[in-house]
Amino acid sequence: MSRLTLDVNDVLASRIGAHGLQPEEIESLEPAARAAHERLASLRASGNLGFWSLPGDAAVRDPAIALGEELARRWENVVVLGIGGSSLGARAVVSALGGPFHNLRPASERKGARLFFPDNSDPATFAALLDLLDLSKTCFLAITKSGGTAETLSQLLVVRERLGAKTKEQVVAITDPASGALRKIAEAEGWRTLPVPPKVGGRFSVLTAVGLVPIAAAGLDARAVCAGADAMRARCEEPALRRNPAYLLAGLHHLFDTKKGRNIHVLFPYADALRDVGDWYVQLWAESLGKNERTGPTPIRAVGATDQHSMLQLLMEGPQDKLVTFVAVETPAADLVLPAAWTGQDALAYLGGKRMSQLIDAERVGTAAALAEAGRPSLTLRLPRVDGHGVGELLFLWEAATAFAGFLYGVDPFDQPGVEASKKITQGLLGRAGSEKYVEGLEARQQRDERFVI
Ligand code: PA5
Repeated sequence: MSRLTLDVNDVLASRIGAHGLQPEEIESLEPAARAAHERLASLRASGNLGFWSLPGDAAVRDPAIALGEELARRWENVVVLGIGGSSLGARAVVSALGGPFHNLRPASERKGARLFFPDNSDPATFAALLDLLDLSKTCFLAITKSGGTAETLSQLLVVRERLGAKTKEQVVAITDPASGALRKIAEAEGWRTLPVPPKVGGRFSVLTAVGLVPIAAAGLDARAVCAGADAMRARCEEPALRRNPAYLLAGLHHLFDTKKGRNIHVLFPYADALRDVGDWYVQLWAESLGKNERTGPTPIRAVGATDQHSMLQLLMEGPQDKLVTFVAVETPAADLVLPAAWTGQDALAYLGGKRMSQLIDAERVGTAAALAEAGRPSLTLRLPRVDGHGVGELLFLWEAATAFAGFLYGVDPFDQPGVEASKKITQGLLGRAGSEKYVEGLEARQQRDERFVI
């Protein structure tokens, strides 16, 4: 059963004034929702909406979780060699469910391996990580859907050299079932592999082996994540706007962007556990919707209450170009009672005897109320707790909303042609055969006019 709720009260003009919406404006989204519903249904029926059926797809889920559980029993460390959609989803779930200090806990207090997501091709990070880990106790998951991503393959090259003859035992490849360099290498080397379903795009792949193997390897409940996602999937198949949280979430973002000039979209969870979900959301929203000079809301990740001391001033009094989505967590994973002390000081007296969860919740409620008072709209997603089910619901909701928003904006949410140009130039600069043409003329462009360098 799905338990996440979407509260849109604080977009209404009756609550926030002239910058808000009339109920009829929300209802006006209904025809677009119906049209998108038809389109999604036909894509699903033709098998061209690969991510949609993943939550209930045992053929994808079960081997991935089984492999992850095996790695959890066998290895002290699991390192994900992957970037973008091949890293962010697993990292979001592991940090949500593993607690803030998963990797620092002794093995006896963990149900699985320590998980590392170096992600970037930054040699300082990667070298430090390899120096830190006992490589004889470490498994490496090489994850790249295309099989050819330079950041991931550069890490793999270093790992291969460090592991030597142990590579076969300690590397698992998760990649396209048939094509790409990693598939060829893995088969030639006899590595264990799992496929990324061809119809599932990188940033929509968290419920394939890409996300499920690392989540299960950390000893976390990947099945609950799938169950939560499946419950949300069922809600997102409702044709009516008022019953479908993905349609309402995407519809309001699109409406505020295109009709009210609010093209900066802020995801603002009041839980550290959801910080990395924010990074995952930023990639999903940006790469899926930023497609031409007129189309592309800018996603931002904030965390409450931390960003009340960083970004809130801008949200409260800066340009009226933002729409905030709070994520509230009703019951935290742990709580603390604040002892009463220094009661003669007003700054402390009211805190004594309260729970710390009351404080952070009051901060969220206070921030939403202050924004509303200042005529600034916000939405609230409410989760009973940060558990596997709730995180699965949250991830699937944003995936479905992203697909829907793509239809509303009239762009293809599943491609990313804009990231190709820089990749080609990079490869040309490093001498990849066939990429010479991409660096023609680059030398001239690289000439610096010293007057403009200070
Ligand atoms: O969403 C996407 O497709 C991208 O962000 C990819 O996930 C990212 O570029 C990594 O690609 P790959 O998995 O092919 O290495």
